[in-house]
Amino acid sequence: SEPLREHAADRGKFIGAALATGPLSNETAYRNIAASEFNQVTAENAMKWDATEPSDGQYNFGGADQIVAFATQNNQQVHGHTLVWHSQTPNWVQGLSAANMRTAMQDHIATVVGRYASNATVVSWDVVNEVFNEDGTFRQSFWYNTLGQSFIADAFRYARAADPNARLCINDYNVEGINAKSTAMYNLVSSLRQQGVPVDCVGFQGHLATQYGFPSSLQQNMERFAALGVQVRVTELDVRVQMPRDANDDATQATYYRNVINACNAVQACAGVTIWGFTDKHSWVPDTFPSEGAALIYDANYAVKPSYTAVHDAL
Ligand code: XIL
Repeated sequence: SEPLREHAADRGKFIGAALATGPLSNETAYRNIAASEFNQVTAENAMKWDATEPSDGQYNFGGADQIVAFATQNNQQVHGHTLVWHSQTPNWVQGLSAANMRTAMQDHIATVVGRYASNATVVSWDVVNEVFNEDGTFRQSFWYNTLGQSFIADAFRYARAADPNARLCINDYNVEGINAKSTAMYNLVSSLRQQGVPVDCVGFQGHLATQYGFPSSLQQNMERFAALGVQVRVTELDVRVQMPRDANDDATQATYYRNVINACNAVQACAGVTIWGFTDKHSWVPDTFPSEGAALIYDANYAVKPSYTAVHDAL
């Protein structure tokens, strides 16, 4: 049957995958599926600060360029991930004074976003990632502790200056349903936009787990953000299960994937869904959540799972 990307394109949406540079270089099956099934890609790690600017002013775009070249070759959009985050950011940044940290952030955003500003493949960026705690207060990251909340508005302004045409997103996890964290994000986006800060888009990561249930207010949550005038998207979808997986896990997981696609289909402002990888052979889940895994739509041998069929049928 036709690849996922054809169905998504017919709806005016994207269906994407996060890509890792290693298997993209080494594995034909990985490359072929990545190219044929998806019309959008995100670098799983290659555009993060530790990859692109490991030491002050020393930029390395090897991995980032590899992803962008692959996407260009396959007529895919790239979502840049991520500019300002508390994780995977080198120690040299974390120890800077306030004035120097702001300058480093400005230089980093200008250089990384600027590199792809005239590249039609790279269309959007996660400007800030994971700035909230679960209770809706700001995360006490080195960014927040050094610069205060203003680092968020500054990051968006620097990104807009570097590429006036890129869609600029704020991204987080556990904000799929309506809850304290997503309401804090809603209030922040509303207030930033009222101040003229260029926030165009909200990303719901979508790291779901069958043991925690499906966030049933996902569509309603998307709709309230859409009413603020922003685009929404699911940026890092995966649905982890307790290992070893069985047919029951596969069926529940398929339902979650279907529900996410259905919610995005139902909301005009939802641009699409990016899955955080596609094969269980290459997934962050087993490394991060002990005893959980099998979160994606192809198994470790690149065979499709019920979750693939669910996405295909919903698109
Ligand atoms: C993860 C990658 O998948 C891993 O390979 C890496 O070791 C750690 O980061 N939220 C994000 C992503 O925004 O960048 C994270 O990706 C997963 C959680």
